[in-house]
Amino acid sequence: MTPRAEAFDNWIRRDFRDMNTALEERYFAERRSDVSGVGDDIKQQLLDEGRAHIVGLLGEGNTDEGFDAGFDLLGNVGFYMAACRRHDLTEPSRETRSPLAEASALAMQLGASLGTVPRFASAHLETHNRAVDGVFKSFTTLEDEGTFIAYNTRGALAYIRASEALLRLLPLGVSHPVAADLLDEARDALEAVYRYNEELFQILDVERFFYCVRPYYKPHRVGLREYRGANAGDFAGINVIDLLLGVCRADDPYYSQLLVDKFLFMRPEDQLLLRDCMRRQSLMDAFLEHRDSDSPPLRENLRRFLAVCDAHGKAALQHHEQLVEKFIVQPADEGDLVDNQQLTASGPPLPVLLKALRTLCDLRAGAVRDDIPSRHRDLATLRELASQVSA
Ligand code: HEM
Repeated sequence: MTPRAEAFDNWIRRDFRDMNTALEERYFAERRSDVSGVGDDIKQQLLDEGRAHIVGLLGEGNTDEGFDAGFDLLGNVGFYMAACRRHDLTEPSRETRSPLAEASALAMQLGASLGTVPRFASAHLETHNRAVDGVFKSFTTLEDEGTFIAYNTRGALAYIRASEALLRLLPLGVSHPVAADLLDEARDALEAVYRYNEELFQILDVERFFYCVRPYYKPHRVGLREYRGANAGDFAGINVIDLLLGVCRADDPYYSQLLVDKFLFMRPEDQLLLRDCMRRQSLMDAFLEHRDSDSPPLRENLRRFLAVCDAHGKAALQHHEQLVEKFIVQPADEGDLVDNQQLTASGPPLPVLLKALRTLCDLRAGAVRDDIPSRHRDLATLRELASQVSA
């Protein structure tokens, strides 16, 4: 890291975070969803100090410090731009280009050279958020933000563990006796996702999350273009699981659109991994292909495979019916904000987003729906086969 990049990183980790925290406390005590006219002196200080760091970094030119340093710096510029959006210093619908000209220039230079979107993504908050003396980066020092990031990180890492077990199974094939161990590993990891989500559901404060944490994930412009916000799902693991289990398919236009929109929000190694999975045969199709075989390891693996599908579906339903419902739908209803276009990280109005998320969780759960390509019939065939074995 160059001295300028380090000074910016220190600013993001301390003064920037303290200014955001002070603003959040003021908003929370005053009008909550309307931030205009509150703490204008702090907002201006945040804007000016961040800009001064960024102007220095732009002047430094290319320093070729390697991918990790560039990605980290992009995260810091992204934190600054997202905070400016949160405090309404920028607002995409009233602008045709970002007023943060220098920050946009640096973010675009970094994003284009790294092969990602030119804004902070969830990896910056979660899987690649380096802690210093036990403290990872966050927008504020609010306890609920720390909790949200920590639990998102745990969830993402558990999904990644499950995806890695499934990937290791591919070269072995579905009848390999050791595939059973990998299927159990995947199931255990997905059950861990469920437990983490359950804990998060209990300990996160609804109002703090809704009014003081979530607003940092709004869409904003970088240069001319508007980019959607980061969400906890911007890593390949969850889609690797969808595709390898076979509950979602890359040739389904709804699902492939989701992947296309997501690619550049992921780190390049995740992009490669996901691309590779998009052309693989799913485990579900492999089991269906061997439905007439009565090999005992194959039948045993089928039972375990179905347990992995169940665990994946259960965690998806939990995300939708518990987390999204409690922490977004209910407070939006109570604050009369359901039609607020700026409520979600992806941008669309809440009812539209909820419909899309419902489709996704129904695909993952193999729900009995024929208006979407749910695999419920194939799953029923495989369950029938598995029950004949154990009978
Ligand atoms: C996406 C809400 C926690 C995984 C989303 C979206 C919402 C949401 C509304 C849609 C994108 C958008 O924001 O516009 C929440 C809430 C949470 C929470 C309210 C807790 C308070 C988590 C956790 C995980 C997770 C802990 C686990 C890693 C995902 C995934 C997506 C996503 C994978 C992308 C869509 C998908 O593939 O399902 N979340 N989330 N979320 N979230 Fe969460």
